[in-house]
Amino acid sequence: MNIAVFASHGGSDLQAIIDGCTANRIPARVAAVISNNADSLALDRARAARIPACHLSAKLFGSEELLAQKILEALARYDIDMIFLAGYMRMLHPAVLDAYAGRIFNIHPALLPKFGGRGMYGIHVHEAVLAAGEDETGVTIHRVSPEYDSGEIVAQTTVPVLPGDTPETLAARVLEREHSFLVEVVADIAAGKIRLG
Ligand code: GRF
Repeated sequence: MNIAVFASHGGSDLQAIIDGCTANRIPARVAAVISNNADSLALDRARAARIPACHLSAKLFGSEELLAQKILEALARYDIDMIFLAGYMRMLHPAVLDAYAGRIFNIHPALLPKFGGRGMYGIHVHEAVLAAGEDETGVTIHRVSPEYDSGEIVAQTTVPVLPGDTPETLAARVLEREHSFLVEVVADIAAGKIRLG
């Protein structure tokens, strides 16, 4: 299975997937990394692993339609079977969603459907979890639909909220769990235990 990972910033989730493939814990390979951000560490991580690294953005091409076309060209060029959004801060164009329907997944740092939707990204998610007084948060992996954070949930795991947590300490605990959970769930997708389409 050829995976394309889309990421906008640090790419630590991307790295977990790359390492899982290299260690044969995921029966697949990361065949391309796509980022809207030319300076993202994700692109550096891809290059370091000798994975094609593509900087594709609407700014670069002048329109969302042309960006979608360039993304579809790249996905075809690398014979992509499955797309994983790992910290990709853009909505995918309907043309891309349609072409890969049921084969696009996203990871979210909370227990959806709670703490999802527009504006719920990065540290804001963990601030909201603490403000709500939750004693548990977690990680959700879901299929991507046209609405933010609302596609079919395929896997979830919980992470405790501890006394004295700040948004930053909680974010670090959740991110660490994301890395191991990603390897488990992407392996299940690659092995066909979680179906594509
Ligand atoms: C993760 O918290 C993920 O849940 C969210 O974006 C973050 C990506 O982190 N979608 P990184 O760039 O992979 O380090």
